[in-house]
Amino acid sequence: MKSIKQEKNLNGKKILLRLDLNVPLDNGEITDTTRIDKIIPTLKFLISQNTKIIILSHVGRPKGKVVNELSLKPICENLENKLNQNISLISKNIKEMNNKDLFTNSNEKIIMLENIRFYSEEEKNDQQFAEHLASLADIYVNDAFSCSHRAHSSIHEIRNFLPSYSGLQLDIEVNALKKITSNIIKPITCIIGGSKVSTKINIIKNLIPKFDNIIIVGGMANNIIKYMGNNIGKSLHENNTDSIIEEIFSLSKKENCKIIYPKDVVVAKNFDGSPKNKKVNEVTSEEMILDIGPKTIELINDTINNSKTILWNGPAGYFENPNFANGSNKIAKKIIERNKAKEIYSVAGGGDTVALLNSLHLINSFDFVSTAGGAFLEYLEGKELPGIKVLN
Ligand code: 3PG
Repeated sequence: MKSIKQEKNLNGKKILLRLDLNVPLDNGEITDTTRIDKIIPTLKFLISQNTKIIILSHVGRPKGKVVNELSLKPICENLENKLNQNISLISKNIKEMNNKDLFTNSNEKIIMLENIRFYSEEEKNDQQFAEHLASLADIYVNDAFSCSHRAHSSIHEIRNFLPSYSGLQLDIEVNALKKITSNIIKPITCIIGGSKVSTKINIIKNLIPKFDNIIIVGGMANNIIKYMGNNIGKSLHENNTDSIIEEIFSLSKKENCKIIYPKDVVVAKNFDGSPKNKKVNEVTSEEMILDIGPKTIELINDTINNSKTILWNGPAGYFENPNFANGSNKIAKKIIERNKAKEIYSVAGGGDTVALLNSLHLINSFDFVSTAGGAFLEYLEGKELPGIKVLN
């Protein structure tokens, strides 16, 4: 993998820079800017080399359609303020864009193209779309480690059409994750939560042989609670997961990996409702599970106490509402207590987990924090990520 830092001749070059600016948005407001903050050094480096930068990113999952709420506008403005530099957000259809139309003003240094997932071609890894994107620039840089598990046009196919490099942040992530996939100190526990059930449920199976304990919380745990014959009411879940859950349990027996999931939960009638502790078999059809309960927290704390390495990806509940943040807070505090005593090596990953740790001012208390979620887990599985593979 060649890093853009090693390239000597960048003067005047147009750089197509794929970033992951997929930050949490609430009514157009960015609620956590970590992913933006982390790529500032890359942008400053490219500016110092007198390049012209074309930023590509997605936010959310608009599924090939223009969704106004998923515009990159607030992200572009945030970046402009941080760099103290004008950045034009170009909403024109990328497919009608021409290299000559860009940077017509010679003072312009950075432009941002609108959400790349507004185009259905992106997620199809469309060759023509990638070739067209490539025609806009001289060099491609991937500084989006957290998207590199996606074989999408702007991450994978693009590599066939431009000289390609890794960005500064991608280099840092890969080097740090290399350290935690070799020389692991056991027992090792993985805590998986969050709301991206479809992304993560299949990954668990592949993590089982590598871990002593897997703690499942958040949206994915609802699927297990349901599989055990309980009513989960209006809770977030994924359909048709019984066979994968069966596989998870039978494989965990074979591999001697303990699967831990909630014994009790916190429910409400909606996201703003008042919290109620319940056993998993007491949830009614009008309720939704929004956090783990005290017995489950106790069980998780015991497991953390008996672990030497902890990887955490995804909150235990709907932490955006403090009424449902208790489970996630308690997990964070327990890990940090053992980290401070130097009894554990701790790594956290994922956009929501980063937002949670930021809100608790605990982001610097972990040994390593990755902004990647799904990519982080797939890397742990030992998979070669498509976006990294093509850079190699
Ligand atoms: C992430 O948040 O993990 C990345 O931005 C990838 O997003 P995705 O899961 O929607 O592909």
